[in-house]
Amino acid sequence: MNAAPVATRSPLLSLRGVSKTFGAVNALTDIDLDVAAGEVVAIVGDNGAGKSTLVKVLAGVHQADSGEISFDGSAVQIADPSAAISLGIATVFQDLALCENLNVVENLFLGQELSPLRLDEVAMEVKSWELLRQLSARIPTVRVPIASLSGGQRQTVAIARSLLGDPRIIILDEPTAALGVAQTAEVLDLIERLRERGLGVIMISHNMEDVRAVADRVVVLRLGRNNGEFDAHTVSSEEVVAAITGATDNVVTRRRDRLHDAADAASTSAQPDLTDEETR
Ligand SMILES: Nc1ncnc2c1ncn2[C@@H]1O[C@H](COP(=O)(O)OP(=O)(O)OP(=O)(O)O)[C@@H](O)[C@H]1O
Ligand SMILES: [Mg+2]
Repeated sequence: MNAAPVATRSPLLSLRGVSKTFGAVNALTDIDLDVAAGEVVAIVGDNGAGKSTLVKVLAGVHQADSGEISFDGSAVQIADPSAAISLGIATVFQDLALCENLNVVENLFLGQELSPLRLDEVAMEVKSWELLRQLSARIPTVRVPIASLSGGQRQTVAIARSLLGDPRIIILDEPTAALGVAQTAEVLDLIERLRERGLGVIMISHNMEDVRAVADRVVVLRLGRNNGEFDAHTVSSEEVVAAITGATDNVVTRRRDRLHDAADAASTSAQPDLTDEETR
C-alpha cells in the first residue's frame, strides 16, 4: 500500500532554495521541501519559525522572493490562490473559514455551487454525503448548521470542502490544535484516509504525539531555515524538540560534541598522577 520507503518516491511537490522576506524580516531562507503522493509530511517549528509563511507561499497567498517550486516535475509559479487550487494544492487554514450559521452542504459548496444558474440542492447533498462517506466522517446530518458541530467535525467539513477541487496535495495548518483527545483521533484517522487516497499531505503541528502518530517524515524549521528532517517512525520526540529549539541543531554541533567528549576522556585518563599528588 503505502509501505514503500519514502526516499524512493519521486516528489510530487518540490521546493528548492525558497526564500521570503517581509521588509527586514527573513521569514524563509533557502527552504527545501519534498512531498510525494501518498505521504504525510509534518512541518514543525517554534513560533515565528516560518511555518505559516511556507503554507501561504504554497497556497498562493504570498509569493516567494526567490527559489524554485516544481509540481509534478515542472517548474511552476503560484501567483495567487486560484493558481494553487488549479495546480491541485488545497489548503485548510487554521481558522477553517466556515460559516457558523450555514449547514454542512452550504459550507461545502459555498462559492462553488454545482449548477451555474440555480442551486442544485439534491446533487449537492448527494455529493456531500459521498465526500463525507469517503472520509468515513461521523457527521449525523448534512443539514445541521456548522455552529452545532464539534471541533473535529468542523475540521472534517473543512477538509471535505478542500477535496471538492480534487487536489493532489492538501495542506492542513494545525488540524488538531483546538481538539480534545477523541476528536484528535478522528482527525488523525482522516489524515490517514487522505494518504490512502494517494494525496500528499502537509501537516503543520505543534503536537509531537500527533506528528509521530500519522506523519511519515518530519521537517523542522527554525528561524526560517530547514533545521533537520527525520523519519517520523523512528525519531524520538526529544530529537525533534532539540532540532526545534536548536539545542543540538545539526551534524556540525554533534561533531563538535564528539570532539569535546574525546578531549575530556583524554584529559581524565591523564589525571590520576596529579590527583594522587593532591589527595595526599
Ligand atoms: N505579513 C507579514 N508581515 C511581516 N512579517 C511577517 C508577516 N508574516 C509573517 N511575518 C514574520 O515572519 C516570521 C515567520 O512567521 P510565521 O507566521 O511564518 O511563523 P510560524 O512558524 O507560523 O509561527 P507560529 O507558530 O507562531 O504560527 C515571523 O518573524 C513573523 O513575524
Ligand atoms: Mg503560524
